[in-house]
Amino acid sequence: MSELNNIAQQIIQKGKGILAADESTGTMTKRLESVGVSSTPENRLLFRNTLFSSDAMKSYIGGVILYDETIKQNSLSKNKIPELISGTGAVPGIKVDTGAKILANSTEEKITEGLDGLRERLKEYYKLGARFTKWRAVYIISENYPSKLSIHSNAHALARYSALVQECGMVPIVEPEVLMDGDHEALECFNKTSEVIKKCFDELSRHKVDLKGIILKPNMILPGTNSSKKIDTKKIAELTLKCLKVSVPAEVPGIAFLSGGQSELDATRNLNSINLINDTNFNITYSYGRALQQGALKFWSKNTEDIKGTQKIFNHRVKMCSLASSGKWSENLEKN
Ligand code: G3H
Repeated sequence: MSELNNIAQQIIQKGKGILAADESTGTMTKRLESVGVSSTPENRLLFRNTLFSSDAMKSYIGGVILYDETIKQNSLSKNKIPELISGTGAVPGIKVDTGAKILANSTEEKITEGLDGLRERLKEYYKLGARFTKWRAVYIISENYPSKLSIHSNAHALARYSALVQECGMVPIVEPEVLMDGDHEALECFNKTSEVIKKCFDELSRHKVDLKGIILKPNMILPGTNSSKKIDTKKIAELTLKCLKVSVPAEVPGIAFLSGGQSELDATRNLNSINLINDTNFNITYSYGRALQQGALKFWSKNTEDIKGTQKIFNHRVKMCSLASSGKWSENLEKN
């Protein structure tokens, strides 16, 4: 097994998933202000340090995606944040894209930036302890979107990013996120997500990326947030698995879903339903941001001194997702 494959397997080992704590300062500011907390470097560290030092880390978290500010911070016990994370057995990771900006000649679609100077930044992050990275591309669904231009440009950027990351000895998370916004039906999400993912793999192969040394972070197949045609969790699972089967090469070791705006409960339930019928060799788990942190953040915002209380909520949420990653979750466990 290659070193990259070893790292990927460590991150997505059975019963574990990824904590996406890589919100940019802008996004984190929105999240903190929405619960009435001011967004200072100290507060951002305090909340994240609370999660990183929880019991859930050792049992259920295989990797943590950090933001540039956090990977350079010292923990409250004065060691480096990447050391705090590796001390729990989880692998430190880092978001390396610099955000999605409007694609030239488009009014709405976006292209993710950050390739210039990436090789040098990656070397620095490796020295700081990162062993995997994340790059997120976003796609809109509407009658004409995602356009071929957006699908092609983002796949190309994801492939160039992945090749550079592997060159630096780290595992790239490839995240093509087809957004939930819109009134489209689930079938449209299925068709467009499958097209987007296939194109990503075409480009990854063209750029000679070792597929055994990546983790795919896709969206689940869901109807748009404003769709009148809702489907049940079983159907979501069937369509999602079908999408993975038609678009992801078998060498890929693992799929770690984003939550994308689903509630904590929905993201857990749908992951469980997918794993109940998973007949592929892919290890299918979570790489959640909001769906792991929402409840803990809400509690913490009112009780910033109560580290244990905040961790209790986080521990429970992560345990539920861990069970869902093996198809062993059920709704009555939420009450315990
Ligand atoms: O890029 C997106 C994050 O890593 C995952 O966030 O689970 O809140 O969608 P989310």
